[in-house]
Amino acid sequence: MIQNRFIIFGGTGDLTYRKLLPAFYNLFISQKLTKQDEILIIGRRDWTKTDYVRKMEPWVKEFARFKVEEDKFLEFIQQIQYLKMNLSALDDYSILKNYVTKSKAQVHVCYMAVSPQFFDPIVEGIHQIDLFNVRLVMEKPFGTDLLSATKLQRKVTRYFDEENIYRIDHYLGKDMVRNILTIRCENPIFDAVWNNRYIDHVNIFALEQVGVENRGSYYDKAGALRDMAQNHLLQLLSIIAVDNPHDLHTLSLQQSVVLHSLKLLEDSMIMGQYRGYLDEKDIDSKSQTETFARFSVGVDTSRFQGVPFHIITGKEMMYRDTAIQIVFKSPYSGQKPNILTIQVQPKEGVEISFNIKTPGKSDEISEATMDFCQNCQMQNRINTPEAYEWMLMSIMQEDGSWFSHWDQIVTSWKFMDELIQKKPKPILYEKKSLGPEGGLTSEIIECIEKPFICKI
Ligand code: BG6
Repeated sequence: MIQNRFIIFGGTGDLTYRKLLPAFYNLFISQKLTKQDEILIIGRRDWTKTDYVRKMEPWVKEFARFKVEEDKFLEFIQQIQYLKMNLSALDDYSILKNYVTKSKAQVHVCYMAVSPQFFDPIVEGIHQIDLFNVRLVMEKPFGTDLLSATKLQRKVTRYFDEENIYRIDHYLGKDMVRNILTIRCENPIFDAVWNNRYIDHVNIFALEQVGVENRGSYYDKAGALRDMAQNHLLQLLSIIAVDNPHDLHTLSLQQSVVLHSLKLLEDSMIMGQYRGYLDEKDIDSKSQTETFARFSVGVDTSRFQGVPFHIITGKEMMYRDTAIQIVFKSPYSGQKPNILTIQVQPKEGVEISFNIKTPGKSDEISEATMDFCQNCQMQNRINTPEAYEWMLMSIMQEDGSWFSHWDQIVTSWKFMDELIQKKPKPILYEKKSLGPEGGLTSEIIECIEKPFICKI
């Protein structure tokens, strides 16, 4: 009998080719996906398994972390099956029913790698055929505001228990994001000063060099605030600001407390739109959608009251960099602050800057940096699973800790709905620039431009 059957709805979509199949291949090579597991691709096209494998092969070769060897690939594809059905047509679910009745599995992981308009028929279809032992995996966006998210939640929880719903926020699968709590809580030198007495402000930024690519119709309705801030960046903020969690199971509840306490700081919002965005495919010619967003929030908890968190994200930027800077207070003016930087991507590591006596001079102070570069070492690069590998492994292990929980979704949408009401018009910025004026401070630019001492 099959152990885990991954039923991939949207098996011929970009996400499956680019992220899921390479992740499955990596899991196969590292023996986390065994011969007892099956990947069942659901597609509308009249393809055979051979057609599908031919189509997916170049993607796996390009995006898998491990080099694709011919013999391993041949073994890997033994675990893939292709089933033709129309996932929007309820009648077609009998095809799936026949399949699962003939070949039984202990667990059915139903992965919705599709746009949200297909969530409804899939949920209905799975329910209708009475699929048992289901773990339902949902990709973002989980709604476009609080109201739509609530409707979606009602729909899925009519048939599925909360503990069997896995809402993916792939930032929670990034190794350095999972490292934040360890760096913070397992080191007294950081843990002891993780509060408003010592921290002056926090910068959280995710800058991308890519534009909207071929996702114009989705992105133009979403914009940077819904696409990146409501989920990925608020997740990072709440992991930084949360009180030391007792264990990972209480983490999400504690994160919701943080999200609940957010206050937008007045006049802190800057929105931008890159020049040329309006000429992209499927974009409204008069669109005011932001491709860059910056805003600052206060966290009204005893730990962080009075500490501004600056959140920044943008597309078509000069740099690709996602990082968190914890900037500590300087005891006297003119003294350079100590900064702890957690680099999430493409650099992965930790850096701390501090003051020293300038070597050879008795009356001068200069800044020194110490760093740990995680992905500079080949061994670490090979041994570090990518975000989707972590997520798939957690689903197999029935571990919902690193997924978005409903209480987090509610609180983050409540905050974001209000913020979106107040957002100013976007300011134009050039492609491959630093974004609109005031978007990136010199502190952030310095951090991005500074390479690790040990270079990648
Ligand atoms: C997705 C957004 O959730 O995250 C995309 O929809 C964005 O617009 C992507 O490009 C960024 O992910 P990563 O892992 O490249 O930082």
